[in-house]
Amino acid sequence: MINHRRRKFLQSIGLGLTLPQAGLRLWKENPSPIDFSKYSSDNSESFWELVKSQFEFTPGLHYFNNASLGSSPISVRRATSDARDTLDNYPSKFMWGDWDDEKETVRQNIGDLFSVSAEEIALIHNTTEGMNLIARSFDLQAGDEIILADHEHTSGSICWEVFHESKGIKIIRPELPLMPNSVAELVQVYRDAITPRTKIISIAHIVNTNGMILPIKEVSQLAHEHGILVAVDGAQAPGMIDVNLADLGCDFYTASTHKWLFSPKGMGVLYAKESSQHHLKPLIVCKGHKDQSIRRLENYNTRNLPELMGLGASIDFINTIGINKIEARTYELKKYFRTKIGSTPALQLKTPAPDRLSAAIQVVEVLRKDVRKAKTHMYDHAQIDCRAMTTFDLNALRFSFAVYITKEDIDYLVEALVAYSEIAK
Ligand SMILES: Cc1ncc(COP(=O)(O)O)c(C=O)c1O
Repeated sequence: MINHRRRKFLQSIGLGLTLPQAGLRLWKENPSPIDFSKYSSDNSESFWELVKSQFEFTPGLHYFNNASLGSSPISVRRATSDARDTLDNYPSKFMWGDWDDEKETVRQNIGDLFSVSAEEIALIHNTTEGMNLIARSFDLQAGDEIILADHEHTSGSICWEVFHESKGIKIIRPELPLMPNSVAELVQVYRDAITPRTKIISIAHIVNTNGMILPIKEVSQLAHEHGILVAVDGAQAPGMIDVNLADLGCDFYTASTHKWLFSPKGMGVLYAKESSQHHLKPLIVCKGHKDQSIRRLENYNTRNLPELMGLGASIDFINTIGINKIEARTYELKKYFRTKIGSTPALQLKTPAPDRLSAAIQVVEVLRKDVRKAKTHMYDHAQIDCRAMTTFDLNALRFSFAVYITKEDIDYLVEALVAYSEIAK
């Protein structure tokens, strides 16, 4: 006897019924609603308003805190939720194989964005993970030294301290000038910190404290002359400025794509130069850990593939505008902001001025005001979201100028700052 369910199954085969193909759209078939590449020579405020229109903040919010976390444009949100639908419609099919090609496309596009080979890029979760992976990989000897300047983010310092200090490895913490005038001044700090025992320099590309850009290329050259490896915490740079890793020459570079590349949250990248890759070990081991390629550093078994697909869409978003155009806009906004602030005595810029030394992160002290109160005031009275920076006696508000910020937004911000500086002097 054939039971009812079995008969229905056989009938369905006989009728040629197949699985519905719903929810298979991918970012490649579902690109940004606006093709920004058509406006390549347009740098008008209207063009940047168009870019801004692709971001949907809650009404009334003035978001100047991209350095803490970015927002994803519409195309990235859509691509991610479509991918989530696909995965929930066909759970195992897409987790285990059907997106392998797309994953490699994302790797390739990131390699291209960074001017390096796709075989040097691992797709991870964030900078914290990347720095942990790098720090954990090294088996140093007591007495060896690691250089970690004082402005390093905790995600780029705790991993070195926890994994190495207890084994007698020395962490050298040189002090960086808060307002350097030149690249040479910063390079000198690293030159002075190097000894014959130095094995690694771990350095942020852009520090989160006051937005200072550190000279990765020059420090890498200096380090390599002494046989020292260079690991870079790039959390704040990709998507804000053009990052050419072949030119920078560091050994390792890791970044969170959920900041300036606007990807879904919980995505990041790890670059390991081909000739330095053998130093790295996976943080997590599972099937695939013996892979000789860089993929061995990103084996998590079941993982966040919809976010990875969303990262593909975010790189497309950046590419259709163009990273060089974005970088130029960054400097345009920085100049516009600094010029406006410059004429107000109660506002003091605490980010170095030269373009080699800062870009879209700028910090400002409202003189005679406590920065925590200033931050609360800005949010409560002007719906401005920014970050209060208290370390290094900064007492300063940190503002980020991502691509969705217009000059009109900066006018609003500066008006609010001036008004606050004049309250109850
Ligand atoms: C310089 C720097 N490094 C590391 C991080 C940590 O980033 P994530 O939490 O995405 O790993 C941040 C976050 O703000 C940062 O600014």
